[in-house]
Amino acid sequence: MREIGIGLLGLGVVGSGVYRLLSENGEFLARKTGVRLVIKKILVRDPNKRRALEVPREILTTRAEDLLQDPEIEIVCELMGGIEPAKSYILRAFSAGKHVVTANKAVLAEHGPEVLSAAEAAGRGLFFEAAVGGGVPIIKTLRESLAANRVRRITAIVNGTCNYILTRMTEEGLPFREALAEAQARGFAEADPTLDISGRDSVHKLAILATLAYGSFVPAERIYEEGLTGLEVPDIVFAREFGFVPKLLALAREENGQVEVRVHPTLIPEGHVLASVRGAFNGFLLEGDFVGEVLLYGLGAGAEPTASAVVGDLLDAAHLILSGGRPGPILFRENPVRLKPMEDVVSRYYFRFSAVDRPGVLSNISGILGRHGISIASVIQKGRQEKGPVPIVMLTHEAREADVRKALAEIDQLDVVTAPTKLLRILEG
Ligand code: NAP
Ligand code: HSE
Repeated sequence: MREIGIGLLGLGVVGSGVYRLLSENGEFLARKTGVRLVIKKILVRDPNKRRALEVPREILTTRAEDLLQDPEIEIVCELMGGIEPAKSYILRAFSAGKHVVTANKAVLAEHGPEVLSAAEAAGRGLFFEAAVGGGVPIIKTLRESLAANRVRRITAIVNGTCNYILTRMTEEGLPFREALAEAQARGFAEADPTLDISGRDSVHKLAILATLAYGSFVPAERIYEEGLTGLEVPDIVFAREFGFVPKLLALAREENGQVEVRVHPTLIPEGHVLASVRGAFNGFLLEGDFVGEVLLYGLGAGAEPTASAVVGDLLDAAHLILSGGRPGPILFRENPVRLKPMEDVVSRYYFRFSAVDRPGVLSNISGILGRHGISIASVIQKGRQEKGPVPIVMLTHEAREADVRKALAEIDQLDVVTAPTKLLRILEG
């Protein structure tokens, strides 16, 4: 049986999952596919670190050359994370004529054109199913199955850590820090979890999805980014009173040749199909012009689901090697996609004002909103305070982001407003 040598860069959460999957399912996969994937070398920082799984010491190395220059290694599997040295190793793998499988969304989102050019120049395959959605086959779905469609909308929960935190906070009332610590202990979070909670990881993933959907590179820095940091427990509680649940959403919408791309906490109705995506699960609601709506759901983080995607890619790379074929193109179009500025985005909004409880305050606030063309859908005021501030919660009809920002800047200057207004965007469709 043909053997294909694999070099693993990294033996952390995902690398260990891949090693274990190939140890447990290797024989089954060899019988099923006719090819045996053999891990020849593994790059780590510290070969003496105590690890949960047993790996022969002699295949561990701290020298990237041991993999990149080994002629028996035909596929390099990058599972280190971070931009450098991961990106350089990927480029060097292509130069050495190897195919690359990676789970590294940061490298792809921030240096996609450079990495794609290197793959194309070398005539080698770049496989990255695990970079978005963990075990959910979203990359192949967009690249292959839905390739014939104009993708009108992507509405997605793409970060398992944030969704886990939100679920634990919303359903169990767990404090943010405790929920994050649990997500880290379960291997969902990035090595630097600020990437997750800042929204950056979701932005990286949306950049990859939008690039595949619209056919030209969508740079991460052009995507609006807001993470969980500003979300407070009272907003989760008020949102639920209005029948909404908070989710960190990655959104892409195409209309009249313009595409809006944004990541932010979003209130969705309790009955929305993504409201039931809980814990570390991810959900992808796609809308294509011919296919209509497609929903994908599954575990978006963790060793085992992610290893499932990585090994699926290893098998694709192996088939490419065996067939002697050239990989198909990832991007077709040279023209940059036209991105809509965030200021022009139209949405419904949730506001929580902190205001002194005095006659006329509400009319001050609603007067400013009215002057900026923002129409109120409903209002509640909680509690009664003789001296201190009270929360006034308001939902709006559709309004333009630029108008909302101007109105809130004015409102927050009022003497009767005691703290910056909290804003959340609402999505109903
Ligand atoms: P991790 O647990 O932090 O593991 C990183 C591994 O890479 C470790 O084995 C580490 O070696 C090695 N490494 C890091 N920097 C190195 C360097 N400069 N030289 C040599 N070895 C180095 O990370 P992970 O969670 O497995 O994530 C890996 C990648 O998969 C990231 O790109 C991440 O975004 C992506 N991803 C993760 C998940 C998930 O659920 N965790 C899901 C999808 C995608 P030591 O073991 O010696 O420290
Ligand atoms: N930290 C990422 C998440 C890993 O929580 O979704 C999967 O990409």
